[in-house]
Amino acid sequence: MNQYSIYKGRPILIECLGINLAFARSLLSKRCNVLFADIALRPEAQELISNTNTPGSSAKAGFQHTDVRDWSQLERMFSVAEKEFGGVDIVCPGAGVYEPVRSKALSISLHKDI
Ligand SMILES: NC(=O)c1ccc[n+]([C@@H]2O[C@H](COP(=O)([O-])OP(=O)(O)OC[C@H]3O[C@@H](n4cnc5c(N)ncnc54)[C@H](O)[C@@H]3O)[C@@H](O)[C@H]2O)c1
Repeated sequence: MNQYSIYKGRPILIECLGINLAFARSLLSKRCNVLFADIALRPEAQELISNTNTPGSSAKAGFQHTDVRDWSQLERMFSVAEKEFGGVDIVCPGAGVYEPVRSKALSISLHKDI
């Protein structure tokens, strides 16, 4: 029994493949199903999906191209999860959409302190 046991065989929707890729890897190893939603499918994520969707596999992984800034694409993401996985139990947002502005602000404030 582990903290993911209740989600075994249940659908989980992972948004974006940066830090969330490690989380998805962990979930898949615990037999949770994962749908990735990102604007790009990185090679390491593609490899994880291919390695998961093998005959007899106890977990299922998929990818849906999604720009999280577009409401209609978010709706489509949930429709695909419903169709392919029978629904969504957990959503894990992880898009780095505001990254550049925050990084710049942090760097400026750090320099001021020095
Ligand atoms: N990495 C960490 O240790 C850490 C810690 C705390 C918080 N965060 C925050 O989590 C977020 C993600 O961090 P990360 O390290 O995974 O970044 P990352 O750059 O490695 O990954 C971000 C992902 O978001 C996707 N993405 C970007 N714009 C998108 C859009 N419009 N629609 C869909 N997908 C989009 C990218 O394709 C990429 O796969 C950031 O906001 C970061 O500040 C990261």
